[in-house]
Amino acid sequence: MDHFTYKNDILHAEDVALTTIAQAVGTPVYVYSHATLTRHYRVFRDAFKALNPLICFAVKANSNQAVLATLAREGAGADVVSKGELMRALRAGIPAEKIVFSGVGKTADEMEYALKAGIKQFNVESEPELEVLSAVATRMEQTAPVSIRVNPDVDAKTHAKISTGKAENKFGISWTRVDEIYAKIAALPGLVATGVDVHIGSQLTDLAPFREAFIRVVDLVKHLRANGHDIRHIDLGGGLGIPYVAEEKAPPLPAEYGQMVIDVLGDLDCELIFEPGRLIAGNAGVLLTEVIYRKEGEGKTFYIVDAAMNDLARPAMYDAHHDFFPVKRDTDAEMDVADFVGPICESGDTFAKGRKTPRLQGGDLMIMKSCGAYGAVMSSTYNTRPLVAEVMVKGDQYAVIRPRQSLEELISLDCLPHWEIVS
Ligand code: LLP
Repeated sequence: MDHFTYKNDILHAEDVALTTIAQAVGTPVYVYSHATLTRHYRVFRDAFKALNPLICFAVKANSNQAVLATLAREGAGADVVSKGELMRALRAGIPAEKIVFSGVGKTADEMEYALKAGIKQFNVESEPELEVLSAVATRMEQTAPVSIRVNPDVDAKTHAKISTGKAENKFGISWTRVDEIYAKIAALPGLVATGVDVHIGSQLTDLAPFREAFIRVVDLVKHLRANGHDIRHIDLGGGLGIPYVAEEKAPPLPAEYGQMVIDVLGDLDCELIFEPGRLIAGNAGVLLTEVIYRKEGEGKTFYIVDAAMNDLARPAMYDAHHDFFPVKRDTDAEMDVADFVGPICESGDTFAKGRKTPRLQGGDLMIMKSCGAYGAVMSSTYNTRPLVAEVMVKGDQYAVIRPRQSLEELISLDCLPHWEIVS
């Protein structure tokens, strides 16, 4: 459930009309709902009842510090994959002891920064990474808490570009090698193994692959403990899918996912960590855009909107579906079937094909739904289009949480080489 609803035929984010935001801030603009963010966080938290897990929001899904601060107030931790994300999480008020550091390519500099901050654990993905972490921690006279991200070789049955738990993927260390890897941690200075980590992919719409991976993790933990390793945390990653298409069957609810986790891991006596991103933020944000033209092509109609693939990359990258809705609802409007496209000079700059919509014209406002995760964070300035604004709504108030980049700010980042500067 989200808080984007029609009131008097005008689409609102909570109690703020999207027309008001478009007028004040311009379009395109990402609009997030505070109530939806907190609701999703609480629904996920409550799915685990007495297990009381640490919920580390995957910052890659939405790294705006206003979003992070909202979740920090709810008690969330953070899953970060770069020094930049770690800085944002800390600055937004997420305590270091609730932050886990994932990713296949952590540099020595990033490790040093994270160790200094005192994060909860490093989710290590390779042997060379273990060696560098050991060297950095030893030099700093510290002990780095380590979880190995195991690759369980499970097919997540999601889009190939966001599947991470098969043996052929670059992520994690094969589950078949845990003995030697944990023995290596024990032998290396500056490291202590405290956990096991797994993340098999994103936008999973079926619980079976999760269950298969988690059963494997439980076996590994029992085995490692029997071999004298003090495994206290299990990080089960993120990945639970969200509904993107209003008419389609929704993915399993957090409560069903929670029950499955309790069934599989209930009596293991481990602190559980989760890294949900999309589930918390995805349906808490929309991309508000204005129709520039309605163009009649050869047997086809196009709505050219002012948002483009640089603002929302998901349809171009993964053929992702985002529902479109007009901001002003007119139930008597004649219907159109059209492609929704952006202004960028690429055919891939297409948000939707052959979509049914009430007929609109230039100047009308629309939203693309489910853009709160992997939306703004994946934007670029391709075609010299400035990064768009972000707004958060809370009840009847709204705040700009990232101003639109000005063209001057964008263009002035380039410097001419000295040989071009003639005095
Ligand atoms: N933990 C790790 C280690 C991850 O790699 C990811 C996502 C998550 C947690 C959060 O997964 P979530 O709960 O959000 O599914 N850009 C793509 C999604 C890439 C996901 C990458 N990793 C998209 O727009 O669909």
